[in-house]
Amino acid sequence: MKVDIYERVWMWGVAVVLAVFFISTAVAAYGRQFHPPSHIETIDPRTALTDPRMAPQGVSVDADGRVHVRVVGVTFAWLPAEATVPAGTPITFHLTAADVVHGYQIVGTNGQAMAIPGYISQFTTQFMTPGEYLIACNEYCGVGHHMMAGKLIVVPQEDWEPPTASQSPALETEEVAG
Ligand code: CUA
Repeated sequence: MKVDIYERVWMWGVAVVLAVFFISTAVAAYGRQFHPPSHIETIDPRTALTDPRMAPQGVSVDADGRVHVRVVGVTFAWLPAEATVPAGTPITFHLTAADVVHGYQIVGTNGQAMAIPGYISQFTTQFMTPGEYLIACNEYCGVGHHMMAGKLIVVPQEDWEPPTASQSPALETEEVAG
């Protein structure tokens, strides 16, 4: 079959563009572990702080030894504002908001999800480099939006101590809820 030279150029051009799109998507998804949060779970925002799925807020370890971080966004703070997690370990974040939409972003990492009233967002990621990471709110949520920051402290695995009940931030957050 005879294909005109310009037809050929366009066909190859389209093939190259499609290949670039697919490869860049594959590199982001498999190489850099970027995934859209796809966890659909609803919650009553009025009881977000005390709901057993979100309380106590902070770091916990489940029966299988997996590390979880539960965070509730309120105007204008993350509860808790600070969390310490081990490096090189999958960490599952559970996020929701008690009032308006906030955006939980662990700056400089692939950890990010919206905190939406009525929904629990969830993502799992791991941090290879110990250090302190800024947690920013990246959804405009009101006059104090720019002050809504927190800190994620990633420590080497051997230096990390699983939180005990006495370190649980539950009391602080109950005061806020009350
Ligand atoms: Cu919370 Cu912006």
